Amino acid sequence: VEVDWSLEAAEKGGHPHYMLKEIYEQPRVLENTLGGRLHEEHANVELDLNLDPARYDRVHVIACGTAYYAGWVGKYLIESLARIPVEIDVASEYRYRDPVVDGRTLAVAISQSGETIDTLEALREAKRKGAGTLGVINAKGSSITREVDDTLYIHAGPEIGVASTKAYMAMLGAMAMLAVWLGRARGTLAEADAKEFLGELRKLPRLVEQALEQRAHVAHIAEKYHQAADYLFLGRHIQAPTAYEGALKLKEISYIHAEAYPAGEMKHGPIALIDERLPVVVLTTDSPFYEKTLSNIQEVRARGGRVIAVATEGDSEARRFAQDVIYVPRTHHLLAPVVSVVPLQLLAYETAVLLGRDVDQPRNLAKSVTVE
Ligand code: AGP
Repeated sequence: VEVDWSLEAAEKGGHPHYMLKEIYEQPRVLENTLGGRLHEEHANVELDLNLDPARYDRVHVIACGTAYYAGWVGKYLIESLARIPVEIDVASEYRYRDPVVDGRTLAVAISQSGETIDTLEALREAKRKGAGTLGVINAKGSSITREVDDTLYIHAGPEIGVASTKAYMAMLGAMAMLAVWLGRARGTLAEADAKEFLGELRKLPRLVEQALEQRAHVAHIAEKYHQAADYLFLGRHIQAPTAYEGALKLKEISYIHAEAYPAGEMKHGPIALIDERLPVVVLTTDSPFYEKTLSNIQEVRARGGRVIAVATEGDSEARRFAQDVIYVPRTHHLLAPVVSVVPLQLLAYETAVLLGRDVDQPRNLAKSVTVE
């Protein structure tokens, strides 16, 4: 028997692709991101930052691609828990829009590689205008970390797959902690609420592990729809970025055209796309906006669309309206993106494998984009 002991096979830890290995690493990664930083007893997090949280009254998030979607989730977290207005831009736009920045602005650059030129240049622009700067970064000692006032490392470990998975997960964990830190410093997050939220954060690695158990079910759904020419992803509020991230993953590695919309925008145009050939993934996890999203599902169904719902465990209602339901564990509704992205990563992965794509090295893409 010939055994493949090549370095690469060993590095993939028995998985056929780095991407799958990295998807499965997520519970441990999240543990690394959060571990040691959550202090329920003090109703706070310990982030080792020198920045003075009381100094800032607005936040500008700058990032690209998947990191941008993590920042978008971060906007909801920071605005909910810390009540600071957060603007978010893709870095390539921020640079050139002459943003209104002053000394009370905290610019937060999010990046796995820490080398993305658009993000770096946008950050320089914010800095030139007097902003305080924070990097939320994976790669130690990378270019961005050398230019910011302070860095919050996400500790995801090296990410090889061009399609980012575990770094996204770690960015979400970091943004949640940042929101707690700002909320506690500004007195907008009460002690009891902070303790409860930290308790939910603490449980997340275990919940992500549970979400991974849906792989066979997701593979079955991928099989059903892998010939589709297009996919639509819908989500509301903090799940809107999850929809965009799900669509990006599918596009990047399967080359299926996928679009994402905030669920409420569907009736303002994209609803015209819906027919029996269009799979529509709807994020419909438990939240104060649950009923609204459910009615979006009904609108899709009424027009013959195929609905794949991502719903909270125990929600039997979703089954009545969707052809397929993928259940994810229950958590705080502001943390639902963390568990919900897992089946979307798996859906992209399984679809790409069925289509024979090069999962780890998709065409036209590079791991870090250092040209403008
Ligand atoms: C994600 O799957 C992408 N390949 C890409 O969008 C990436 O997130 C983006 O280029 C930003 O990279 P960074 O996090 O290293 O800055």
